[in-house]
Amino acid sequence: MTTPISHPFYLDCDTGIDDALALAYLLASPHADVRGIGTVSGNVSAAVGARNTLDLLQLAGHADIPVAVGNHDPQTGTFHGGAPHVHGHNGIGGIELDAAAAELVAGTAAEMLVRLAHEHAGTLRVLAIGPLTNIAEALRLEPELPRLVKEITIMGGAAFAPGNITPVAEANIANDPEAAAEVLAADWNVTLVPLDVTMSNVLEECHRQELLSTGHPVPQALGEMLGYYFRFYESQFGRACSAMHDPLAAAVAVGGISAAVAPVVHVDVDTTDGPGRGQTICDLRGRYRDYPEQAGARCRVVLELDGEFAPHLVETLLSFGRAERTTAALASAVTSPA
Ligand code: BDR
Ligand code: CA
Repeated sequence: MTTPISHPFYLDCDTGIDDALALAYLLASPHADVRGIGTVSGNVSAAVGARNTLDLLQLAGHADIPVAVGNHDPQTGTFHGGAPHVHGHNGIGGIELDAAAAELVAGTAAEMLVRLAHEHAGTLRVLAIGPLTNIAEALRLEPELPRLVKEITIMGGAAFAPGNITPVAEANIANDPEAAAEVLAADWNVTLVPLDVTMSNVLEECHRQELLSTGHPVPQALGEMLGYYFRFYESQFGRACSAMHDPLAAAVAVGGISAAVAPVVHVDVDTTDGPGRGQTICDLRGRYRDYPEQAGARCRVVLELDGEFAPHLVETLLSFGRAERTTAALASAVTSPA
C-alpha cells in the first residue's frame, strides 16, 4: 500500500461554523498536514475565532498545532461585530466545547505565515477562508511570499452568482476589499472558490444526521453546530440544509474534489465606495468561446464541480472515530452468538 502524499498547509480562518467544518476536513484528510493556523475577524473577532480553533483542535486530538491571532480590524474601518445570526453568539452555533489547555503562540498570524513559507519554501499551501487581511499583511512583510508559497486557495467572491452581503459582494471579500484586491493582484498561483459553487453544493439534514450518529465527539459537535447554521439557511433554501463555503474550499485545496469548470481569468476587486464595493469582477467573457487563455491571467475561478461534494465531505468527517467503530463492531461480532 502506498502512503498518500501529505502537503504542508497554513490555514487562515474566522472560525465560524463552516470554518470548523473546513478545519475538521483538513485534519481528517490524508493529503493535508496543517502546520499552523491564523485567525482574522469575520464571523467572530480574531480573538474569539482563535479560542474556537484551539478548542476544536483539542477536541480532535491536535492540540499541538500552533494558532496565532491575526488582525482584528480590516485595512479600512473597524470590525463590524461578526455574524451571530449565521454562526451563533460564540461563532460555533452556541454549543459549548471544553476550553483548550493550549495557549496561543506569540506573534501575529501574518508572521506565522511568513515563517512557515520559509520553512516549507516551494511546498506550503495556503487556505484562506476568512477576510484576507492577514494574507495581505504577510505579502507586505515578505514580498517574496508568492514565490515561497506553492499555491493559495481562497473561499470568497462571486463570479456569476449574486453576493451574500450586498447584491454583488461576498462576505470574506466585503469585509476587507482592499486586502482582497492586494491578494488577488499578487503574482501567485491562486484559486478562488466563490459563491457560485458554495451555494449550489449543499449539506442536507440526512448528512447532518450521519454526523450526529457516529458517537465521536468531533462529528457530533459539527452536527450540533450545523443545526444552528441550517436554521439560518432555511430562510434562503426553504428547507433544513446549508451552503458549504469553507469545507468546499478546503476540499479543492487538498484535491479531495476537482473542478469541472475552472477558467484562469483576470479578477479585479472593487474597492470604490459605491454599490460595487467588494465585488470580485471576474473576466468571464471567454465563456462564449470555451474560455481561451487570457494573457497574464492567474486566478483560477471554480465555477462547477466534478461530482457531488456532500457525500465526500461526510465520508471524510466520519473518519473521526472510524477505527474505534471498527474495533467495536469486530468485538461484538466475536461475542455475539452465530
Ligand atoms: C464566507 O463568509 C463566512 O461567513 C463563511 O465562514 C465563509 O467563509 C461565506 O461568504
Ligand atoms: Ca470563514
